[in-house]
Amino acid sequence: MEEEMSEVVRQFKPKFRSIHKTQIEDDLSENTASSLHQIELLRTVITKNVFNIVRIQTIDDRWIGIQLRDTYVTCGWLLSEVIRKLSQLRLNYDPADIVGFKTNNIHLDYHLSCLHYNLPNLNGVLLIPQIRQQLKEPINLDWFEIIKKLAAGGFSVVYLVKNKENGQFYAMKVIDKRLMIERDKEEMVFNERQILTRLNHRRIINLYCAFQSKSKLYFVFDYCPGGELYYHLRKQKRFSEEQAKWLFIQILDGLQYLHSQNIIYRDLKPENILIDQDGCPKLADFGLSKIVDNQEQLNYSFCGSLEYMAPEMIEQKGHNYTQDYYQLGVMLYEMMAGIPPFYAKTRQDMIKNIVSKQINYPHFFSKNLSDFITKLCNKDKTKRLCGKQIYQHPWLQGPIKKMPIKYQCDQFNFDKLFINQKCLDIESGPRCIAEEFNLLTLSQSRGIRDEEMCPFEKFSSFYYKK
Ligand SMILES: Nc1ncnc2c1ncn2[C@@H]1O[C@H](COP(=O)(O)OP(=O)(O)O)[C@@H](O)[C@H]1O
Ligand SMILES: [Mg+2]
Repeated sequence: MEEEMSEVVRQFKPKFRSIHKTQIEDDLSENTASSLHQIELLRTVITKNVFNIVRIQTIDDRWIGIQLRDTYVTCGWLLSEVIRKLSQLRLNYDPADIVGFKTNNIHLDYHLSCLHYNLPNLNGVLLIPQIRQQLKEPINLDWFEIIKKLAAGGFSVVYLVKNKENGQFYAMKVIDKRLMIERDKEEMVFNERQILTRLNHRRIINLYCAFQSKSKLYFVFDYCPGGELYYHLRKQKRFSEEQAKWLFIQILDGLQYLHSQNIIYRDLKPENILIDQDGCPKLADFGLSKIVDNQEQLNYSFCGSLEYMAPEMIEQKGHNYTQDYYQLGVMLYEMMAGIPPFYAKTRQDMIKNIVSKQINYPHFFSKNLSDFITKLCNKDKTKRLCGKQIYQHPWLQGPIKKMPIKYQCDQFNFDKLFINQKCLDIESGPRCIAEEFNLLTLSQSRGIRDEEMCPFEKFSSFYYKK
């Protein structure tokens, strides 16, 4: 076997060494600066050439070649082939511990981590194999490399992170404990945690783990690289009827799963629908969701964005699962028209519209579509189109074309406001967010310490790992 390998090594070495030498040297100097520990044991230049051979150079200057048997091979296949080939060499670490690759392009890194994706063009790209790091249980912030700030809200910040143990990318939602307590959101955050740990469905965001540090709570989700549906809707202004229909069916699938688990979602809007790696929508943000005893149970809380609020919630008449169908109708209208149906400049006018105005449909809405939305958005919750009946409506008859959202794979699909911000140290990060939004907390200004305000024991039930 050794002989066979050295034959392969000899075959490739002279030809490609000169071509890639300069780039290797450049990347080496860059990497030294970032001191990549064990990961640096091996560096790899991969090139696909006309003969469909991937060449790999190890740090000790040996070359191995991997033949691409097919035009389309997956990233998972490359990873396993690299591991297999390297297992035939004598190295001072176990190649089976390679969990992925690192390049100088984060979007390419993400692509390579999706093992079912086709191999991207790797011409002249320098790949550094990432070796699994052994980290101390229980899972904590040290397990993650912080890559980018993606979004921020009133008391949470969401970062793109990479797990050092398995090489996968995740979105980490960081909540400042002080802000949460002072703004009376503790119940909401624990409710979100409880609901997320119960769910397992392809149209629902997957919670990977939850943990705490001295001053923060962390939710770690599978990363959705397509960003919010809102981002795509604003970019395209409106979706085609075909696109809206496919999205509607996918979201409906997620909502009906929630209802089958006796959960009302209550916060359906394009900001909370995320686009996953395959361009499919996933429901996220369960802060306002509610576990009920049965689907008919009436609830009286007042929550969510006004544009999407059902009339029975505004009028405090009690709402149940049917209010999710109302919001689905509002969102379908928005996907087709570009704005929600009852939108007005002032809150008063919006409330008036929601409670008493009939929807006006633009001329390009088909008759079936307008009728469908009218039935979903019936102001009388007992007469609303719900559940299985939805599938019988004429608008949903006939084949539905699969239309995943086409997002840009080589850039972040998030608001530039956050993407362009520096990634701060996470432990002090949301404190800086507090400063950004001028929200320095009351307890902080009075000099109360984190340990007094948010003792660890108080949040011990927050921990979760799949
Ligand atoms: N898994 C994820 N992948 C990508 N982006 C995410 C993910 N989870 C959250 N985000 C981003 O963070 C934003 C806020 O997250 P969300 O859970 O809705 O928190 P909030 O309760 O502050 O609204 C989302 O609208 C989205 O832009
Ligand atoms: Mg949200």
